[in-house]
Amino acid sequence: MIDGAFLRPLLQPQKSQPVTKFVAVINRSITKIVKVLRLMTESVRNITIIPEFRWSDRQLTEDFATFAPHHIVNQQGIEKMLNLNLPPSYPKQPRRVLLTGAAGFLGSHLAEALVGLGQRVIGVDSLVTGSEENLSNLKGNPNFRFIRADIARGLSAEIGEEKFDRIWHLASPASPIGYVKHQVTTLKVNSLSTIDLLELAEKNKARIFVASTSECYGDPLEHPQTESYWGHVNPIGMRSMYDESKRFMEAACMAYHRERGVDTRIVRIFNTYGPRLAVDDGRVVVAFIKQALRGEPMTVQGDGSQTRSLCFVADEIRGFLLLMESPEYHLPVNIGNPEEVTMKELAMEIRDLIGSKSEIMYLPLPPDDPKQRCPNISLAKKLLGWEPAIPRKDGLALTIKYYREKLGIAE
Ligand SMILES: NC(=O)c1ccc[n+]([C@@H]2O[C@H](COP(=O)([O-])OP(=O)(O)OC[C@H]3O[C@@H](n4cnc5c(N)ncnc54)[C@H](O)[C@@H]3O)[C@@H](O)[C@H]2O)c1
Repeated sequence: MIDGAFLRPLLQPQKSQPVTKFVAVINRSITKIVKVLRLMTESVRNITIIPEFRWSDRQLTEDFATFAPHHIVNQQGIEKMLNLNLPPSYPKQPRRVLLTGAAGFLGSHLAEALVGLGQRVIGVDSLVTGSEENLSNLKGNPNFRFIRADIARGLSAEIGEEKFDRIWHLASPASPIGYVKHQVTTLKVNSLSTIDLLELAEKNKARIFVASTSECYGDPLEHPQTESYWGHVNPIGMRSMYDESKRFMEAACMAYHRERGVDTRIVRIFNTYGPRLAVDDGRVVVAFIKQALRGEPMTVQGDGSQTRSLCFVADEIRGFLLLMESPEYHLPVNIGNPEEVTMKELAMEIRDLIGSKSEIMYLPLPPDDPKQRCPNISLAKKLLGWEPAIPRKDGLALTIKYYREKLGIAE
C-alpha cells in the first residue's frame, strides 16, 4: 500500500540535514518502486511521482496536499475509479476554486480531482442530498475547505468576499426522489443560485462551469440526442422543477455570456454511476445493486424495455475537467456514454455480476419517465477529444465492490 499516512511520519523530522538526506534516499527508492509497479500493474498507473521535495515546512505540506488523496492507491479497492487519464498537457496551475455541491456524488469526486491537480478548493454544500462522509479523503487537507451552507438562500459573505479563478456549480438534488422531495430548493438552486454565481464569476473574471442535464431533452423525440435538439419537456410535470430549472440555468449562462462576456461552460450530463451515489435516492444502478446484494426482488419499472446510457464516474469527471479548460466554447456539451442498455438487461447484468438469485419484479412506470436516453457525443469528441473509456462491466464491478463494503455484505 502506498499511502500519504505511510510517508508522512518519515517526513516529519526533516529539519536536520542527515534526516533530510535519509528522507531523500527513501523518496528516490519509493519513486523507483512506484515506476516498477506502474509497469507491472494497471491499478497503480495513475500514481504521480513527485520528482523532488522542497524542504520548507509550508511547502512540504502543500506538496502533500496537492498530490495526496487523488493519486493515492488505497480506496476500498476502487483505485481504478481514480484513474482519470487526463492528457499530460492538462493545465496544472494552482487555481482558486469554488465548488458547489461538493459533498455530493459527482462533487466529491471532482473535489478530489481538483485538489489532486494542485487547486485550492472551497467546497460548499447544504448536505440536503450529499454527505460529509464523501469528503473524508480531503479531511484536514490544507487545499480543501468545506463550508456547509444552503446557497439557495443566497451566497454567504464568506464566499462573496473570496477570490476565485474557477467556479463549478454542481449543487442540486439530482435524483427524482431528491428533487420531488425538495422541489423549491431544486428550482432555486438551479435558477437563483446560478444567477448569484454568474454575478460572482463576472466580478472575479472567473470561468464558470454549470452542471446541466440530459433532462433538458425531456422525453426526447430525437434519438440519440444532439446538443442542437430543443427537447420535449412537460413544463408542469413531476420532473418540471428539475428539467425547467436546468433549462433556465442554461439560458442564464447564455445571457450572461452574450450580454456581459462571462466565461461560461455548460455540460449536459447523462446518467452517471459509480461509488458514492446515495444509497437510498432511487437511482437505478444503486437500487439494483442494493436489491441484488440483499437477495431482494429487483424492481424494474414498466416492462423494462426503456433504455438508459450509463457513464462511469471517472469518465464523466474527465469530461468535466477537459470542458472547463477547453478553448472558448459556451454552448452546451453532452458528456455521457452512448452505449444504451435496457433496464431489464441492466438488472440481469448486475444480478449476474453479483451472482445473486434475486427475481425481477415489474412495477408501473412513473409519470414522464423518458423511454430512451442516449447522447450523441460527436461534439465532445471533436472539441475535447473525449469519449468514455471504461466498459460498463468494469464500472459496475467497481461500483458493486464499493456497495458491498458500504452495506457490509460479504461475498
Ligand atoms: N449523477 C448524474 O447522473 C447527473 C445527471 C445529470 C445531471 N447531474 C447534475 O450534476 C450535479 C451533481 O449531481 P450528483 O449526482 O452529484 O447529485 P448529488 O445529490 O449527489 O449531489 C448534489 C449536491 O448538491 C448539494 N445541494 C443541493 N442543493 C443545495 C443547496 N441549495 N445549497 C448547497 N448545496 C446543495 C447536495 O447536498 C448534494 O451534496 C447536479 O447539479 C445534477 O443535476 C447529475
